[in-house]
Amino acid sequence: MARLTVVAEERDGAGGGEANLRADGVTHVFETAGGPLMAVTDVSFTVEEGTFVGLVGPSGCGKSSLLQMMAGLLNPTEGRIVMGEEEIREPRPAEIGVVFQESSLLPWKSARENVEFPLYLRGVERSVREKKALEMLDLVGLGEFAERRPHELSGGMKQRVAIARGFCQDPSVLLMDEPFAALDEQTRMTLGDELLQIWERHKKTVVFVTHSLTEAVYLCDKVLVMSARPGRILKEIDIALPRPRTYDLMATETFGRLRAEIWELIRGGDRP
Ligand SMILES: Nc1ncnc2c1ncn2[C@@H]1O[C@H](COP(=O)(O)OP(=O)(O)OP(=O)(O)O)[C@@H](O)[C@H]1O
Ligand SMILES: [Mg+2]
Repeated sequence: MARLTVVAEERDGAGGGEANLRADGVTHVFETAGGPLMAVTDVSFTVEEGTFVGLVGPSGCGKSSLLQMMAGLLNPTEGRIVMGEEEIREPRPAEIGVVFQESSLLPWKSARENVEFPLYLRGVERSVREKKALEMLDLVGLGEFAERRPHELSGGMKQRVAIARGFCQDPSVLLMDEPFAALDEQTRMTLGDELLQIWERHKKTVVFVTHSLTEAVYLCDKVLVMSARPGRILKEIDIALPRPRTYDLMATETFGRLRAEIWELIRGGDRP
């Protein structure tokens, strides 16, 4: 616990500044063998610093494409992604971290080596990055598994390693693309809670793609609902539920209403 406080204080001391992440009229067209394919069109939204924002929508509507543009891994065909005052045109691993699905772990490296890898790429000294990686593995309950390779870990444990790696970078923004998709419901609920606890202490900005509407309502401050491809933002839904979130919230009328509203938007989507 004490450790967590220290990490949070370190971050506060770093003096955050304006790190709102914004999409301004973003369109992306992929050039494919079958011709141009418009993945998203005229998408605009703001993710306020320190908030937890969900991105939901039908399969193929451009959620991953949008996340990749926010990560600087893909550039908009039109419009811009802006963080603070600066346009994002290339990856910025120190400021913007990405957590994909489990396959993104390096299989030949231990859990600890995977977690410290972004720091290694940044040239952080070995003892410092090892200490930080072990702290983060402790945080996600994997302190004892630090030297195990991914194939020796369960699916849920691998996801914890990926999350620890995301946090180890200590980015101000963490982009998560269906990080729990491959997991059973019980594990994803547990990991969701762990993620919220870490987030509440570190107050990072999180953008979280999910197909689970329950997960979206449970975790987020705001949910961006997208239409079918070419993806547009149909609506931004504020999730005005108290924090810390607890499971009994799911049984409340407000929770059910929010979830139903998102479902109606996705289902009925474009229809008048
Ligand atoms: N590299 C690419 N080249 C060509 N087309 C692509 C590429 N990446 C994605 N697409 C297309 O762009 C559209 C949006 O894909 P994207 O992966 O962003 O959707 P998604 O909302 O993340 O879907 P899912 O929920 O299934 O993960 C799809 O039609 C997809 O086929
Ligand atoms: Mg996707």
